[in-house]
Amino acid sequence: MEKEIKAIILAAGKGKRMNSTMPKVLHEIFSKPLLGWVIEAVQKLGHEIESIVVIGHQSHDVEEYLNNNYKYVKTTFQKEQLGTGHAVAQAIPLLNQFKGDVIITCGDTPLITTKTLRNLIKYHRENDSDLTVMTAKFDNPKGYGRIIRSPKGEVVSIIEEKDANETQKEIKEVNTGVYCAKWTKIRHAFTQLSNNNAQGEYYLTDIITWSKKQNLKVLGYTTDDNNEIYGINSRKNLAYATKLMKDRKIDELLESGVTIVDPQTTYISPETQIEPDTIIYPNTYINGKNKIAKFCKIGPMTHIRGNCEVGEGSKIGNFVELKNAKIAKKSNVCHLSYIGDAKIGSNVNIGAGTIFANYNSITKEKKKSVLSDGVSIGSNSVIVAPVEIKQDAFIAAMSCITKDVEESSLAMTRSPQKEVKNWVKIKKEKN
Ligand code: UD1
Ligand code: CA
Repeated sequence: MEKEIKAIILAAGKGKRMNSTMPKVLHEIFSKPLLGWVIEAVQKLGHEIESIVVIGHQSHDVEEYLNNNYKYVKTTFQKEQLGTGHAVAQAIPLLNQFKGDVIITCGDTPLITTKTLRNLIKYHRENDSDLTVMTAKFDNPKGYGRIIRSPKGEVVSIIEEKDANETQKEIKEVNTGVYCAKWTKIRHAFTQLSNNNAQGEYYLTDIITWSKKQNLKVLGYTTDDNNEIYGINSRKNLAYATKLMKDRKIDELLESGVTIVDPQTTYISPETQIEPDTIIYPNTYINGKNKIAKFCKIGPMTHIRGNCEVGEGSKIGNFVELKNAKIAKKSNVCHLSYIGDAKIGSNVNIGAGTIFANYNSITKEKKKSVLSDGVSIGSNSVIVAPVEIKQDAFIAAMSCITKDVEESSLAMTRSPQKEVKNWVKIKKEKN
C-alpha cells in the first residue's frame, strides 16, 4: 500500500465555535492534538506514507507542532479559507509527479481509524474506482452534506445542508469528508470548481459532479462506525469525542480480558497496552503510552501520565501518580505517592506518601532514581534524584534520601525520638 498513497489533510480553518485563541486542530484528546490523531491513523497505513497538511489559520503554531513531531509530513499554506475544494487545490504543487491514490480527510475528525482508511482504499482499488467517497448513515444527519444517489443507486452528487431543499434534507446518508481518488484523474477538478452556492465557497464535494461529467467512475463506500467520523467544531464536541475515544479503548480492553470496574469513570488512552487479568479500579486516568502487564491492580484514583511500565502482579493504589516510571514485577506502590523518572525493580515496597523529587526548578533538569529488587521505602520518604538504592536496602520512614544506599543497608535521616517523662502530668498539675 505504501508508495502509491499520499494523504491530504485539511486543517486551515479557524474553528470559530471553539472560542479559543488556539487553532482548532491543536486542541487535544489524551494530550495529543486532534491533527496528530489523524496523521497517525494515516501513517499506520504503511511506513513512510506522506501527509500533506493544508494549514492557514495560525499556521505558524500548527507547522511548529508538525515539524516537532512528524517526519513524513509536508505543509501547504492556504492564505484565505475559501472552501474545502480551494484547500485541496493548495496541495497541487506538491503532487506534480504523483501518480497514485490520494486520501483526502479533515484534521478535525480524530476518531478515524487506520482500519477504516484501509477498507476505503481496498474498496476503491478492488472496484477500480476513480473517486470513492466514504459515506455514513445518520439518524440525525443535520449539518452534514447529503449523498444524492440515482434511482440505480449510483452516487451522483453531494448537497451541503445549506444548499439542500426539504426533500434532500430528509436523506440520512451523509458525506464523511473522507475520500480516496486516483490523483491523475481528479487533479484538474480543483482548478475548475465554482463558488456558486449558499456559502460562496469552493466546495470539495463538487468534485463528484465534475467527475461524473468526465465519465469517471464514482463510488460511495459506506462505513458502519459513525463514531469514527465524528467531527469537532465546539468544546462540547471535544468532550464528547474524548468520551468516544476512551469508551472505544475500554470496550477493546474488556473484550481482551481486562477487568474495568467502572468504565464510566475510567479514562485510558488508546496508546496504553494492558494485559488480561489486570484490574482497573474506578476514577483512574491513564494518559499517553504505557504498558501494564497481567495480574496488576491499578487504582482506585490512580493517575498514570505516560511512558510508564508496570510489571506483572504489581499494585498501584489510590492517589498514586506515575510518570516516566518503569516498575518491575510484584512491586507495590499502594497509597499517596508520586513516582517520576524512576526505574524500580521487583518485589519493591514503596510506603504511603513517598515522593520522588525528580525536578530541579532552578536548573529545569529532571533526574532519575533507580531502586533495585527487594528495596523497601518507609512511609513519607523523599527520594531526591539522582540516587541509586541497591538491592534489599531499607529506608526508614520519613527519610530524605540524597545519597546512594548500599545493598542490604538501612538508611535513615530522621532525628532520633525524644521522650520527656511525665510531661503531660506536670503540665496538668501546673494548671
Ligand atoms: C464538510 C463537507 C460536508 C461533510 C463534512 C463532514 C464540504 C463543502 N462539506 O463540511 O459535505 O459532510 O465536511 O465533516 O466539503 N478547511 C480548510 N480550508 C477551507 C475550509 C475548510 O482547510 O477553506 C478545513 C477545515 O479546517 C476542516 C475541514 O476543512 O478541517 C472541513 O471544513 P468544515 O468547514 O468543517 O466543513 P463542514 O461544514 O464540516
Ligand atoms: Ca467540520
